[in-house]
Amino acid sequence: MLSHAVIASLLAISANAHVGTWNPGMYCRGGNDTKEDNQNTNLIVNPLYQLEKDVWWQQRDRGCHLVPPPDGEFLELPAGASFTTELANNRAFTTLSYDGQYVSDWQDGQNRTEPWVGPGTPPGCLVDNPDKAGGELHARSREHAAGTAWAISYESDLDKVTMDNLVVFSVRYHTPWKRLTAYDVPADLPECPPEGCYCAWLWIPDGCGQPNMYMSNHRCKVTGSKSTKTLGTPKAPVWCEDDQSKCLSGPKQMMAWNQASGDNVVAPQGRTPTYNERMGFKDGAQDDIFVESENQASSSSSSSQAAAQTSSTQASTQSPAPATTTSIQSTSSESSTAAATHSTPSAQPSQGESTCSKHKRHLRHHARHMA
Ligand SMILES: *[C@@H]1O[C@H](CO)[C@@H](O)[C@H](O)[C@H]1NC(C)=O
Ligand SMILES: *[C@@H]1O[C@H](CO)[C@@H](O)[C@H](O)[C@H]1NC(C)=O
Repeated sequence: MLSHAVIASLLAISANAHVGTWNPGMYCRGGNDTKEDNQNTNLIVNPLYQLEKDVWWQQRDRGCHLVPPPDGEFLELPAGASFTTELANNRAFTTLSYDGQYVSDWQDGQNRTEPWVGPGTPPGCLVDNPDKAGGELHARSREHAAGTAWAISYESDLDKVTMDNLVVFSVRYHTPWKRLTAYDVPADLPECPPEGCYCAWLWIPDGCGQPNMYMSNHRCKVTGSKSTKTLGTPKAPVWCEDDQSKCLSGPKQMMAWNQASGDNVVAPQGRTPTYNERMGFKDGAQDDIFVESENQASSSSSSSQAAAQTSSTQASTQSPAPATTTSIQSTSSESSTAAATHSTPSAQPSQGESTCSKHKRHLRHHARHMA
């Protein structure tokens, strides 16, 4: 049963509803105050838009690069299989909070039946329905949900992760939608250094609100891999909706869009670059992200992707041991300046106030039922 304090807090925080991913290994799971493990936080779900690169990158606008998961905790990526995440607008509606008692099949702890679509034909935004629910999904229907993605860097140190060593390895079309969402892992993804890899969850919604993007931090590791392949250096995706021959194949960068600086993709006027076919991403594991030949010299690949690589001289004498990342020097200028972390976030909820207050009302109703 909810205490009055918890109900009040749920109501207050849910007013800023968007969607994020909740997992073992995530940063800022309990918010950004390291003295408190907040069960009822939505800090990581707040969107990024019109921010400078050094603050949108890794959610530095809210200090989430500084609040790692507990030692030894990782998001596990099973090579050649899939992992399941929880997409929700608040930790309260995941199994990582309150023993999972407020969890439903959906992102907001509510029950509903499908199909769930916005009003009209073609459908308007979900939030335009009489119940005003679902604004945080920025969608008109499941089919219209933009697609979300995961990227991986073999750098353990967040300060060494750059656009040039962070590679999109999995995409799920038509998400975010329901809470439980599975992503496929390439079978050839090599193991991470002992300290783990860096993984980011990524989303650019397709309209239905302020144009924005999402990038949330995880410490991750690949499990069950026998691969000795190396990831190639990613390139910025290219809009190719109208001509698939224009799609960029091979390793791709995450997409930065509608920021004050650091954008790496462009879309036609009025359109949005999304993690789906229109930017050349296929659904599922991105199997085309590896350097072609396994015996490629390390000099031919990005220095920062060398973690799982063994040089030809080492290979003959020792069993391959992952290089420790501390010895790898990032050559890119992309590394963010760690100092600039305390600027006030300008990100606001992208939905109108009516969305938020209506959402509150739902929770209030919900809370009454449980009281
Ligand atoms: C925590 O996040 C809030 C909201 O974004 C922000 O105002 C505050 O400065 C952050 N605290 C730290 C220590 O980064
Ligand atoms: C959703 O349905 C489940 C199962 O019937 C029920 O236990 C739960 O209280 C419902 N949640 C809400 C928010 O109505």
